[in-house]
Amino acid sequence: MPERPTVYVGMSADLIHPGHINVLEQAAQHGSVTVGLLTDSAVASYKRLPHMTYDQRRVVVENLKTVDRVVPQETLDYVPNLESLRPDIVVHGDDWQTGVQRATRQRVIDALAQWGGKLVEVPYTEGISSTQLNASVKQIGTTPSVRLSRLRRLIDSKDIVRIMEAHSGLSGLVVENTKAERDGRTVEFDGMWSSSLTDSTSRGKPDIEAVDISSRLQTINEIFEVTTKPLIFDGDTGGKPEHFSFTVRSLERLGVSAVIIEDKEGLKRNSLFGNDVAQTQSSIADFSERLRIGKLAQITEDFMVIARIESLILEAGMADAVERAEAYIDAGADAIMIHSRQKSPDEIFEFCDHAAKFSKSVPIVAVPTSYHQVTEQELADRGVNVVIYANHMLRSAYPQMNKVATTVLENSRALEADPYLSSINEVLTIIPENHS
Ligand code: SPV
Ligand code: MG
Repeated sequence: MPERPTVYVGMSADLIHPGHINVLEQAAQHGSVTVGLLTDSAVASYKRLPHMTYDQRRVVVENLKTVDRVVPQETLDYVPNLESLRPDIVVHGDDWQTGVQRATRQRVIDALAQWGGKLVEVPYTEGISSTQLNASVKQIGTTPSVRLSRLRRLIDSKDIVRIMEAHSGLSGLVVENTKAERDGRTVEFDGMWSSSLTDSTSRGKPDIEAVDISSRLQTINEIFEVTTKPLIFDGDTGGKPEHFSFTVRSLERLGVSAVIIEDKEGLKRNSLFGNDVAQTQSSIADFSERLRIGKLAQITEDFMVIARIESLILEAGMADAVERAEAYIDAGADAIMIHSRQKSPDEIFEFCDHAAKFSKSVPIVAVPTSYHQVTEQELADRGVNVVIYANHMLRSAYPQMNKVATTVLENSRALEADPYLSSINEVLTIIPENHS
C-alpha cells in the first residue's frame, strides 16, 4: 500500500470550536495529520496568551480522532517545522489571505515549493471564531487561580511583560481593554500594577503606608470584579514582618500574582523623593528575613515574592545594589525589581549587565518613570523581563480634572469644559454591561 501523504496543520487550539474541527477533518481526508501546536511563546508573539497552557492544549488536540500526532511549533512562522518535517500538504483556513497573517502564509507557500508540497485552504466556518469565544470568556471572567498563575506564564513566554497601573475599577477596565496597532500587530497590556502611590493619592493621602492593607485589598477586589488580567501588588516595605505572611495569604486568596516589597524601613516615603526626604534602607539580613517570611507563607506554587532594591534611589551605589540582589535571590526572591530615579536608563542597564552574571538568574522588573524615553524593546534587549508603567492612569486623570474644575469656575458654566470631557454616551459605554 502506498504511504499516506503527510499533512501539517498549525494551530493554537485554545478554545476548540467547529471551525478547528472542520479544518482537521478536511486535513485528515488528505492524509496523516500532524498538528503543529503553537507554544505559549509563539502565541504571545502576536496575541494574547492562550487560556490553557501548552500541555493542556496538547492533551485536547492529541485526543481528537482526526489527529495522528502533535509537535510543538515554537514560532508563529511555520517554516522551521515545515523544513524539518517536509509535509506533502499544509491545511489552513482561508482567513489568512489578508491582514497580519498574509506574510506567514506566503512563507508557507515558498517553503512547500522547495519539495513540491502544496497548501490546501479550507473555507472559513461562518458564525464562530476564537475572537468571539475570547470575548465571551472575558465576559464570564476568570478564577483566582487562573489569574494568579498567568503572570509566571507571561514571563516564561514573552520577551517583556507589559504592566500598567490601575487604582480603580474604571482604570482597571482601561488596562484590560485598551488595544493599539504597533508594526501591524495588535498590542495590549499584559497585566496591572496596584501602586501604593496611586492607591493612596486617589484617596487624597500621602504614600507612607497610611492606607491600610484592608483598604488596598478593597481596591483590588473592585478591579478584579471587572477584569481578567493578572495583577502585581506594591507591598511597600511589607509592613511588620509578623503581618507580612497574612498579607501574602490574602493576596493569593484574591488571585494576585505577585507582591513586590522594598528594602526600606521606618517611615516609608515614595522612592521618587530619593534622598530629598529621610528614608532608611534595611539591612540585608532583615530584608532577607522578610522575603523568607513571604515565601514560607504562600500556599500556591505560582505566587511570586519580588524583592525591590532601593540602593540606586538612595545613592548607595551599584555595588550595594548588586550585593543585595544576590543576597535576596539566595533568600528566595522570585524576581528583582531594580528602581532608579535617573533621567537616563544607564544605571538600570548597568545593573542588568551584572544580573546577567548572577549565579542564579531570576526575572528583572524595571519601572521607567523618570527614564521614560526608554522603549520596551531596549529594556528587553538588556534583559528586563517586566516593565511597569507605575502611575500613568492616575497622572492622566488628575490634570484633566483640574482643567475642567478651573474652566467651570472661570466661565460660571460648564459649556467651555466640553473639549476636556468625554460625552455622556462615551462614559456610559465604557462599562461593558451598559451595551450588552
Ligand atoms: C508606586 O507606584 O507606588 C511605586 C513606584 O512604588 S514609585 O512610585 O516609583 O516608587
Ligand atoms: Mg509604592
